[in-house]
Amino acid sequence: MSAGQAQATPAAPTTEASSKSIPATQKSWRVTGSGDIDKVLKFGDVPVPKLKKGDILVKVQAAALNPVGHKVLKLLPGFIARRAKAHEFEIAGVVVDANGTEFKEGDEIFGAIPVLSVFQNGYGALAQYTAVSAQQAILRPKNVTPTQAAGLSIAGLTAYQGLIDIAKLEAGQSVFINGGSTAVGSFAIQLAKAKGAHVAVSASGKNEQYVRNLGADEFFDYTKAPLHEQLLAADPNPKYHVFLEAVGMNDPTLFVESEKYLAPGGVFLDVGPQGGYLKFFWKVFLQPSWLGGTKRKWKLIALDVKKEYLVAFAKLVEEGKVKPLVDSVFSFEDTLKAYERIKTSRATGKVVVKVDPTAE
Ligand SMILES: NC(=O)c1ccc[n+]([C@@H]2O[C@H](COP(=O)([O-])OP(=O)(O)OC[C@H]3O[C@@H](n4cnc5c(N)ncnc54)[C@H](OP(=O)(O)O)[C@@H]3O)[C@@H](O)[C@H]2O)c1
Repeated sequence: MSAGQAQATPAAPTTEASSKSIPATQKSWRVTGSGDIDKVLKFGDVPVPKLKKGDILVKVQAAALNPVGHKVLKLLPGFIARRAKAHEFEIAGVVVDANGTEFKEGDEIFGAIPVLSVFQNGYGALAQYTAVSAQQAILRPKNVTPTQAAGLSIAGLTAYQGLIDIAKLEAGQSVFINGGSTAVGSFAIQLAKAKGAHVAVSASGKNEQYVRNLGADEFFDYTKAPLHEQLLAADPNPKYHVFLEAVGMNDPTLFVESEKYLAPGGVFLDVGPQGGYLKFFWKVFLQPSWLGGTKRKWKLIALDVKKEYLVAFAKLVEEGKVKPLVDSVFSFEDTLKAYERIKTSRATGKVVVKVDPTAE
C-alpha cells in the first residue's frame, strides 16, 4: 500500500471463531529488556493469555505501531519492560472468548490496550491472541478493513480527546495543527473539519497535498523558517481558538510565543514534550506572566481510551467523515522492518502489522 493511502472497501463478513480452536501457546513479539527495539523485541512462543473479568480474548488480525512503542523501551527499567509478553497497543481482531461481556464470539472489533496495561498484564497487540478490556474495544465499522481499523484507536482518540473533550472545539472556530501529517495530526484535521472548524496546518512541503486532501484550509511549511516566526508574520485574524502540537517537540517556543496567535481564551494542546523537560517545566508551569510567562492555557493530552470516544470516533468513520490512514503494511514476521519505518518519523498514516496473513 502506498504512503498515506486511505482505503474504504467493505469489510469481510464475520469470521468463524470457536473457543474450542484456541491453542495453549501462540507466536508473539515479546520484550526481553530495556533498550533499542531491534535488540530487545524477540519473536517466539508465549502462552495465550488467561482472561480477567471484563476482558475479552481476541484473535488478532492486525496491529498498528506507535512511536511510544519504541521510545518507551528505552525509558523503562528492564524488569518492567520484560513483563510484556506481547508488545504494542492497538489492534483489530475477532472475539474468540466474550467472557460474559456485551460481545459475542465472532464479533469483529478494533480497540486499544493502554501502555500501562501491557506492562501490568503482559499482553499487547503483537500476538496471535490477546486480552482486551471490553470497555476499550468496539465493533469494527463495516466500511473499513481490519488492516485499516487497527490504526484507528491510539492516534485517532488522542486527536479526539484533545480537540473535542479537552478543547471543546466548536463549529466556526479555527484550529492550528502543528504536524498535520503525523497520524495524530491527520486524524485531527479530519475531526476538526467534521466539526465545521477552519483548519491551518504545518507540515513539510512534500506533505502539503496530503494534508490539503485531508481538509487543511491553510498550509505552513515548517522547513522554510521557524514556525513561530511564520505565525507571528501571518498575524492571524481571528487568532486560533485551539493550537494542537501533534509532533512531540523538545522546545516550548511554540507555546511561549502563542499569545500572538492563540486567542485569549484559547488552549494549547500538547501530545507531550519529548525532551528539554527543565525548560518546559519552567516555561509552562512555573514562570509567572509578570516575569514574562505565557498568558495561555497549556494542556497535555494523556490518552484515556474511553468507550465513549471509541463510539463517537467509530460513528465518524462509519459516516465517512474520518478516513483510516495507512502508511504501510508489514507481515507479522517483518515487525522489526515495520519499526524501522516508524522510527524514520516520516510516515504519513499508520504503520500496520498484519498478524493474520489472511486478514484484509
Ligand atoms: N499524549 C498521548 O497520549 C499520545 C498518543 C499518541 C501519540 N502521541 C505522540 O504524538 C506524536 C505523534 O505521533 P504519531 O504516531 O502521530 O507520529 P507519526 O505518524 O509517526 O509522525 C510521522 C510524521 O511526523 C512528521 N514530522 C516529523 N517531524 C516534524 C516536525 N518537526 N514538524 C512537523 N511534522 C513533523 C513527518 O512529516 P514530515 O516528513 O513532513 O516531517 C511524518 O509525517 C509522537 O510524539 C507520539 O509519541 C502522544
